[in-house]
Amino acid sequence: MPPSDADLLVAARAAAEFAYAPYSKFRVGAVALAADGTVYTGANVENAAYGSTLCAEAVAIGHAVASGARKLEAVAAVCLDGPGCTPCGECRQRMREFAVERVVTEGPGGAPRVRSLTEMLPDSFGPEDLG
Ligand code: THU
Repeated sequence: MPPSDADLLVAARAAAEFAYAPYSKFRVGAVALAADGTVYTGANVENAAYGSTLCAEAVAIGHAVASGARKLEAVAAVCLDGPGCTPCGECRQRMREFAVERVVTEGPGGAPRVRSLTEMLPDSFGPEDLG
């Protein structure tokens, strides 16, 4: 049985505990669910040169791809220190590359809020546009 969206949020929340966020103090955890059912974790990794910061979603996607995954079913993200999280524009484009089907964040009361990437990144540029 593949993990449920609620399971993905639990895993993303656990991953956020490993965030390195001494500058923003805004800890984020993410997971990428590969087509074979494997869940890859990530957390944000900040840097004294602020622009070198990695988002949690970028780390989770990188973790999955560097482990051999090429098709991602879902990405989930959870913020520990704010009212909510929604993936940034760059991370949406990273999801686009690996055909993420659904994006899971926390809605009201912590329930899964599920959106399609088409909704979050309409009219996007992707691998097939290179011909
Ligand atoms: N951040 C993420 O990791 N993912 C998001 O979806 C939004 C922002 C991180 C980047 C930075 O370390 C901190 O949150 C504040 O922007």
